[in-house]
Formats: sequence, C-alpha cells, structure tokens
Amino acid sequence: MSLVTGKELLDEAKKGGYAVGAFNCNNMEIIQAIVAAAEAEKSPAIIQASQGAIKYAGLDYIVGLVSTAAKNAHVPICLHLDHGTDFEQVIRCIAKGFTSVMFDGSKLPMEENIAITKQIVRIASAAGVSTEAEIGKIGGTEDDVSVDERDAMLTDPEEVKYFVDNTGVDSLAVAIGTAHGRYKFEPKLDFERLDKIQKLVDVPIVMHGSSGVPGDDIKRAIALGVRKVNIDTNIREAFVKGVKSVIAKSPQEIDPRKILGPAREAMIEIVREKIRIFGSNGRA
Ligand code: G3H
Ligand code: 13P
Ligand code: ZN
Repeated sequence: MSLVTGKELLDEAKKGGYAVGAFNCNNMEIIQAIVAAAEAEKSPAIIQASQGAIKYAGLDYIVGLVSTAAKNAHVPICLHLDHGTDFEQVIRCIAKGFTSVMFDGSKLPMEENIAITKQIVRIASAAGVSTEAEIGKIGGTEDDVSVDERDAMLTDPEEVKYFVDNTGVDSLAVAIGTAHGRYKFEPKLDFERLDKIQKLVDVPIVMHGSSGVPGDDIKRAIALGVRKVNIDTNIREAFVKGVKSVIAKSPQEIDPRKILGPAREAMIEIVREKIRIFGSNGRA
C-alpha cells in the first residue's frame, strides 16, 4: 500500500471515536517494529521522524525505509514530520514524500506562528500533504516549573479557534499537562481544558508526550477528542531493554542481528499494547 495522509487516518479515527498512534522512528528496526505491530493489530499507524531522527538517519533513508515498509504492509501507514521548526526543512519533507508534516511554532509569538503555519498549510495542501501545528508549550519532564508557570504554558482555549480559523491547519497539538520524556511524577492532565478546546474546534486534537500517561487517562483524552497520540520514550525504553538483556546474557555477542532482533521484538510488544489502548486495533 502507498503511504496515506494523516488527514485520511484522523478523519476515520474521528468517525470511529478512537485515536491513531504516532510512533517515533530513528532506524530500520524501529520502523519494522511499528509496522509489524500495526499489522498484527490490524491497525492504521503513523510513523513519525523528528528533525533529530532525520539528522541521524538521513532524509532519503527515512523516506525510503518507511515507504518500503508501507508498500509491503496490509494496513495504512502515514509518514509524518514531528516538531518541524524550520520552514525549509518542512518543505523538503513535503518534496521528498512525507504525507503529513508538523510545523511547531509554539515557541514563536502567536501571529508569527499563524503566519508560518498558514504558508505551510497552503504549500502542503497543494501537494496533498496533511498538516499539524501546535499552540501552548509542551515541555519536557526535566523542566522545573511552578504551578503558575505550568498554567501559562498550557494551551489557552480562547486562542484555539482563532488559530485554526486563521491557518486552516488539519490537526492541532495542544498542551494539557503532558510532557516529553520520562515523568518524575504521574502527570496531571487538564481534562477540563481539553473539553473546552474540543468544543471550540472540529479539527482532530493531537496529544504529545504520551509515553508516561496512564492508559485510563489516554482513554479519557480520546473520549474528549484526541485523535493522534504521540509515543517515543516507550519505544526507546523497549529498545534499550532488549539490547541490554542480550548483552547481559551474552556479553561476548558481536552479531548485530542477535542484539537488535530481540530489541525489535520488545518494541513490537509495546506498540501493540499502545494500539489497543488507543482503540485503533481492528480498524484497518
Ligand atoms: O517530541 C520529541 C520526540 O520524542 C523526538 O525526540 O528530537 O530526540 O528525536 P528527538
Ligand atoms: P514521549 O517521548 O513522551 O512519548 O513523546 C513523544 C512525542 O510527543 C513526540 O512528538
Ligand atoms: Zn512531541
């Protein structure tokens, strides 16, 4: 199957009341694990690459690997740029075959975020590519912020409709209390804020920093309009755990296939688990 757009997957998710997992990749084994998990669960999946992943693996490799994986798969796969902050890089991804791109202007003043997002939406839609943007700031778990500071970082529902109407973006990442990476404490999601947001706009809502969010909270967020759930840290953890267990058992092992194979199996399991939480199993 050729790559599908994010919009196609998220529109279906909206109709069905579930969310599609967006899983970060850095190398071949991660891509294979995501697709194997999606196939085993008969689920659509979004494979996303950050700017760091593109720098590490190379843009052509990411597009080549994910396109090959999608072509051989029996479930729909989308290739998405995660947290693109550079206009030129976003355009390069569109030109090279990504079927969805995120422009993350969340650190910019609102009007600047709108202006660049709008330009990207215009170019992307002409190329048949979907778009995601962000308002509010999704921090890292290491960010040491007070309650007031945290509140100021969260997405202001008042700004949501203005942003969506003025950009025409296909999906919107919001800050509702999640953070990227490993949480020191269990996150406290602002469901009231999410409910206000979903009542104001029709676009699918995207949740970042979802690895450390308990399954029940993810399900509650999905019931309140979240249609794309981003997972990276859980995959990294499974990868490293798999590698470490081989090395611990066989410190002399030098065959990369024997080291990375079990890591790939461990990643398949965690991605399958997430897919079942998101309710996208059996939807493809
Ligand atoms: O949201 C960030 C993703 O986890 C990607 O992280 O920039 O280290 O590739 P990265
Ligand atoms: P986690 O690493 O916390 O799962 O976040 C992933 C993410 O939001 C990628 O954009
Ligand atoms: Zn993110």
